[in-house]
Amino acid sequence: MLLDKLTETVSYIRSRSSLKPKVGIILGSGLGAFVQHLKIDAKIPFNEIPHFVSTSVEGHQGNLILGTVDDQPIIALQGRLHYYEGHSMDTVVYPTRTMALLGIENLILTNSAGGFGDTMQAGDFMIIEDHINLMGINPLMGPNLKQLGPRFPDMTEAYDKKFVELMEKTFQDMNCRYHKGIYCGVTGPTYETPAEVRYLKLIGGKAVGMSTVPEAIAANHLGLRVAALSCITNLAAGISRNKLSHEEVTENAKKVEQQFVDFLKSFLSKIS
Ligand code: HPA
Repeated sequence: MLLDKLTETVSYIRSRSSLKPKVGIILGSGLGAFVQHLKIDAKIPFNEIPHFVSTSVEGHQGNLILGTVDDQPIIALQGRLHYYEGHSMDTVVYPTRTMALLGIENLILTNSAGGFGDTMQAGDFMIIEDHINLMGINPLMGPNLKQLGPRFPDMTEAYDKKFVELMEKTFQDMNCRYHKGIYCGVTGPTYETPAEVRYLKLIGGKAVGMSTVPEAIAANHLGLRVAALSCITNLAAGISRNKLSHEEVTENAKKVEQQFVDFLKSFLSKIS
């Protein structure tokens, strides 16, 4: 059933573009502007794609784009689905599975996150080197489809070490501040309490957000190499005295948009 749906989705997308990208990118909250730097072959709203579900979150536009950056073909998802929107985990990871069946081998995940690493400031970037899944659910629960991957996927290198090194090099070349650390995935939609943030720090995290973990798990199941980057749009609850708001998150994501675009372009050229 799921495989039949995916086959239909993939053949529809193939009918709209003949590009064969090896790289997929999921653009997080406020980070969708990267697509302005693509030479677009096809821009398909989620609601035109069979079995895709539209996203309801502000700052997430909901398009699947096939295009090229400096002649390298890529697929970009402008917007993603979150578990807190009420979607099933199967729905949340459906676009990731679609990209894998379209032939990508590498997946770049991006997100906005709250930071609580010692020297973090709003507007910083954090390379995700590992995650802690605190969502209380795993997208692979239920019967395993062995055509997609194994029952018990290894997660030792959920985030490819070479990609981590290359991302570091990219930031160093740009002379841009960055952090490296563990991303804690929570369901939201509330932001955390200060006590929860102290707990996340105690267990070794440096950033917290409401996405990425499901896609990273599905991508590892599918055998994709994963790179992931957080834009620290705000200090997490209780670290500064400010109250948190989605407006602050999208505004700060916008402030670092140019750096984010420069990073992605440079990183893509390194993995092509
Ligand atoms: N917490 C959880 N998710 C987030 C945050 C945060 O502080 N900022 C952006 N996404």
